[in-house]
Amino acid sequence: MKQEILNLLKEIKYPNLDKNIVELKVINDIKINKNEVEITLQVTKEDAFKKLEKSIKTKLKNRPIKVKIINIAPTPKKDMNYGTSLKPNNRAPYAKKIIAVTSGKGGVGKSTVAVNFSIALAQDGFSVGLLDADVYGPNVPRMLQVADEKLQWNDNDKIIPSENFGIKIMSVGLTTPSSDTPLVWRSSVAVSALIQFLEDVDWGELDFLVIDMPPGTGDVQLTMAQELPITAGVIVTTPQLISTDDVSRAIMMFKDIKVKIGGLVENMSYFIAPDTKNRYDIFGTGGGEKIASKYNIPLLGKIPLDMEVREFSDSGTPAVAMGNDEQKNYYKDIVKNLLKEIK
Ligand SMILES: Nc1ncnc2c1ncn2[C@@H]1O[C@H](COP(=O)(O)OP(=O)(O)OP(=O)(O)O)[C@@H](O)[C@H]1O
Ligand SMILES: [Mg+2]
Repeated sequence: MKQEILNLLKEIKYPNLDKNIVELKVINDIKINKNEVEITLQVTKEDAFKKLEKSIKTKLKNRPIKVKIINIAPTPKKDMNYGTSLKPNNRAPYAKKIIAVTSGKGGVGKSTVAVNFSIALAQDGFSVGLLDADVYGPNVPRMLQVADEKLQWNDNDKIIPSENFGIKIMSVGLTTPSSDTPLVWRSSVAVSALIQFLEDVDWGELDFLVIDMPPGTGDVQLTMAQELPITAGVIVTTPQLISTDDVSRAIMMFKDIKVKIGGLVENMSYFIAPDTKNRYDIFGTGGGEKIASKYNIPLLGKIPLDMEVREFSDSGTPAVAMGNDEQKNYYKDIVKNLLKEIK
């Protein structure tokens, strides 16, 4: 009977999402007593709950059983400012601001930006959590030297996030036996894991939750935007890619789902020769400015191709913590500019 009901519930999609409520783990419990079934849901968004309640009742109306539907989602605190998107769920009511770092393509330096940006925020005195949502290539733990840590739970059964360089860190990379274990997940599983990280990690109160998104414009991005009131998206690109469809798609996705774009970061923008300190505009100049003005979004900063940045990143000692002043400023300037945008 329970399985039968579960199968029927699998046919119900979450409002505005192409996912059913079973795979999204919206259902907390199903209890069957004689001729009554009690279904407990966990839906933060009130109107989504109302819609689901109606669809479930319709779905089960031909059964000779009374249907009772309960919502046990925690109600978010009222006095916080949750940004500007349409009314999404809020799986992270503990975070005052949520910044999603994305890119159209992989390998453009998104994680390096997310890591250094998060540390720069912490250096400004903010409490910061960094969620590595790049479930297919989680490289944040290595960049922050926490890759060998094992997951631990506290007395309240919450996952204790790793901590280094003044920020809290969570990543699926911390859940796999070794950092090179390949992750071959269906996107629905990836989405569930991320939702668990939002809800079951003991982040504490955060001024900023920074999310290192997977590259592209797929399920994970859309679900995160649906499940979190993202304050602003930051799009990282390189000059070679700046005028490609991938970047436009990333920009358009945010515009479509009404997530504010905090701005664009042009990474590996130019090259400074380590010996002579001469600057080489290998890919020309002005691409970042051009696309920023085309889409009317801010250009938050340009970071040069800097051999030391790569070395810092690869050795787990982020540039903003261990680099020289100039290197620190690549990221501090981005923070300064973004804070102006989201004030
Ligand atoms: N400004 C830079 N100068 C030199 N090397 C850089 C710079 N930014 C990033 N890198 C290096 O480029 C490589 C890719 O960076 P990173 O892992 O941050 O990219 P990503 O977009 O997150 O990639 P993925 O899609 O694999 O997650 C890394 O080796 C990193 O150290
Ligand atoms: Mg990455």
